[in-house]
Amino acid sequence: MPALGFGTLLPDAAVTITATRDALGAGFRHFDCAERYRNEREVGTALHAGLASGGIAREDVFVTTKLWNSNHRPERVEPAFQASLNRLGLKYLDLYLIHTPFAFQPGDEQDPRDQNGNVIYDRGVTLLDTWRAMETLLDHGKCRAIGLSDIGLDELKLIYEAARIKPAVVQVESHPYLPETELLEFCKEKGIVLLAFAPLGHGTRPGPLEDPVITAIAARVGKTPAQVLLAWAVQRGTALLTTPRSAAHARENFDISALPEDALGEINRVKTRQRLNEVVKTGVPGFIPQRKSAHD
Ligand SMILES: NC(=O)c1ccc[n+]([C@@H]2O[C@H](COP(=O)([O-])OP(=O)(O)OC[C@H]3O[C@@H](n4cnc5c(N)ncnc54)[C@H](OP(=O)(O)O)[C@@H]3O)[C@@H](O)[C@H]2O)c1
Repeated sequence: MPALGFGTLLPDAAVTITATRDALGAGFRHFDCAERYRNEREVGTALHAGLASGGIAREDVFVTTKLWNSNHRPERVEPAFQASLNRLGLKYLDLYLIHTPFAFQPGDEQDPRDQNGNVIYDRGVTLLDTWRAMETLLDHGKCRAIGLSDIGLDELKLIYEAARIKPAVVQVESHPYLPETELLEFCKEKGIVLLAFAPLGHGTRPGPLEDPVITAIAARVGKTPAQVLLAWAVQRGTALLTTPRSAAHARENFDISALPEDALGEINRVKTRQRLNEVVKTGVPGFIPQRKSAHD
C-alpha cells in the first residue's frame, strides 16, 4: 500500500472528479473511498479516465472502499461489496474496510433514525459476525485485503484474536493532537498498517496546520506546515489519507521529504489533545453533513 493516500470524502460530485484526477496527476496511487461518501461512481469515472490518459495500469493503483453501518448483517456484506465494485467500475478491490464498528438498522437508509431523531442500531449482529463475512470475500479473489476503521484498541484486540484472517489495516483519525501511540504500537507489533485520516487536522483552523511547533519547523526546513505534518505521519510508521481539493495542494502534499530527528521529537512532545471526528463514539460520521432522511 502506498503510504500517501488520497481520501475521497468530498461532498460535491464535480469536485470529486477534478480532485481525484488532480491527485492522480500529482502522483497519488492510493485512493480511499466509501459507499457512505455517495461518490464512488465519480471516483471511478475520474480514476478510469486518469489511468487511460496517463498510461497507468490498474495494478499500479491501490483502491480501498468501506462497508457502511447499515450493511453489517453477514448476508448484506457480499452484495454491498459487489455494489461498491460496480459503482467504482473495478474488477477487484485492494482493500475493503468495515467503516465503523457500529451496526445500524439493516437496509438502504444509511442514517436510520427513530421519531426522536436517535440512530436506530442493530443489536442482532456482532462485529465478529460481520468480520467473518468479510473474511469470505478474500476467498473468491475480488478483494485482496480486509480491515477495520474507527475502532479502539480493546475492540481491535478482540477481533484480532478471533479472526481467521487478521485485519491488514486499521484506519483511524491521527495527527499530532491525536497520535494514537498505543494503537500504533499494537499495530506495528502485529504487522497491521495504521492508516491515519485527517493528518492535517481536517484543515481545521486553529489546528495542527497553525500549531507554532509545526510552523516553526516548516520555516526551519523550508517546507510548508502541511508537508511537515504529512512527513511526521509517514516517519512514525503510519500510512495516511489527505484530501487536497486543488491541484496545487495535491502537488504540495505529494512532495514530502524526511524531517530531521530533532523535529520529530519536537512534534512528539506537542501536548495539545483534540479529537476532531466523533464517529468513534456513535458511528455517525463527523465530517459528512447530515442529510435530511427520506421521510423528513
Ligand atoms: N474512516 C473514517 O471514518 C474517516 C473519517 C474521515 C475521513 N476519512 C478519510 O480520510 C480522508 C482524509 O481526511 P481529511 O479530509 O480530514 O484530511 P486532511 O487532509 O487532514 O484535511 C483536508 C483539509 O485540509 C486542507 N488541505 C489539504 N492540503 C492542504 C495544504 N497543503 N495546505 C493547507 N490545507 C490543506 C483541505 O483544503 P483544500 O480543500 O483547500 O485543499 C481540506 O480542508 C477522507 O477523505 C476520507 O477518505 C475517513
